[in-house]
Amino acid sequence: MKTEKITIHTLAEKKARGEKITSVTTYDHPSAVLADRAGVDFALVGDSVSMTVAGRPNTLEATLEEMIYHTRAVRRGLERALLVADMPFGSYHTSELDGVRNALRLVKEAGAEAVKLEGGRKQAPLVERIVQSEIPVMGHIGLTPQSVNLLGGYRVQGKTVEAGHALLDDARALTAAGAFAIVLEGMPREVAAWITREIPIPTIGIGAGPDCDGQVLVWHDLLGLTPGATPKFVRQYANLAGEIEGALARYIADVRSGAFPADQESYHLPASEKMLIR
Ligand code: KIV
Repeated sequence: MKTEKITIHTLAEKKARGEKITSVTTYDHPSAVLADRAGVDFALVGDSVSMTVAGRPNTLEATLEEMIYHTRAVRRGLERALLVADMPFGSYHTSELDGVRNALRLVKEAGAEAVKLEGGRKQAPLVERIVQSEIPVMGHIGLTPQSVNLLGGYRVQGKTVEAGHALLDDARALTAAGAFAIVLEGMPREVAAWITREIPIPTIGIGAGPDCDGQVLVWHDLLGLTPGATPKFVRQYANLAGEIEGALARYIADVRSGAFPADQESYHLPASEKMLIR
């Protein structure tokens, strides 16, 4: 049974009803098909693709062309979920006009239904311009990975009431600028709860505790595909790395022993042709 298409309005209605919003990052066609079938509300083509898929140490090198490529693949896999694409570092930092142009590219060339960008009060004028261009914008505040060099690392933000207040001001400015939702990343649960109570648009938490209106996790973290340790806020719902390693080890052993491929996994000549081979 096909359920209703999710739009930005569905997310607002969920907040109004107190129903949690769910999301996971997706970077390709199979992950999009699976996330959509599982019933997530929105698929986020995160610039975390730079780390999870490209193996880089941060998100800073992700390019707009890469985001367009991954967003297109995800577009082809979704039927229901809202498609949100990240604006990569540098695609909205040079001028508002560049920001609007690049947001338009994610919609026109890749099929994004909304864009996400990092930053609070200082990005509010740009958010307003993009929304005026008919593109829904999701904000992203707190631990904003594109600011890693300014923040001095991936550090939890808003750890005092004063700093929490500054984050609330950011959230209010993005709301006034027309953002339809805000990702709250890496902040104390109390601050995220405070912001969630104070603003009318949905908050989506990652490392921000359970009181946000919804949650997002990175695909590789959630499914146990991330090599090494994951941050405290991650819950691993599967160990796909272990499953994949086990499957590959069995495949290698079968090829080496001659157990794969078997006769049933081989094509055959018709009997009349077989006879002609000496
Ligand atoms: O790029 C990303 O995966 C994100 C999420 C962490 C929210 O922005």
